Amino acid sequence: MPVKRFGVSLEEELLDSLDKLVIDHQFPNRSQAIRFLIKKNVVEERWKWDMEVAGALVLIYDHHKRDILKKMTSLQHDYHCLILSSQHIHLDHDMCLETITVRGKASKLMKLADKLKAIKGIKHGELVMSGTH
Ligand code: NI
Repeated sequence: MPVKRFGVSLEEELLDSLDKLVIDHQFPNRSQAIRFLIKKNVVEERWKWDMEVAGALVLIYDHHKRDILKKMTSLQHDYHCLILSSQHIHLDHDMCLETITVRGKASKLMKLADKLKAIKGIKHGELVMSGTH
C-alpha cells in the first residue's frame, strides 16, 4: 500500500511517551509505533462493533481433574464453527497446554473463552484477538 507522510504536532510529554513506546516495543521508528497504536485502537473498536477477528486461546490445566477433558471437548464441539485448529502439549506429568486458534465475531470468541476458562481445573486462560486485515 502507498505510504503517505504527514506532520504531527505533540506536546513534549506525549512525544516522550511515544519514544518510550518505541524503546519498550523495540520499534524501528516512531512511524511504526504510531502504526501499532492505530491498529490496536481499530481492533479494540472492532471488538465493540462485533466485527470478524482472529485469535488464539491458550489454556493451561491439569488433565487429571475430573471430567475436564470431556467438558473441554464438548464445549469445543458446541462452538466448532469458530474453531480453526487446536494443539495440545503435555508440559509435564500433570499439566497440559492447549492452544485453540479461533476466528469469528469477537463477542462469540470471548464467550467461548469465558466458558472454557470457567471449567473447573483450568489454571490459566488467555484470549488474544487481532483484526484479520
Ligand atoms: Ni496433556
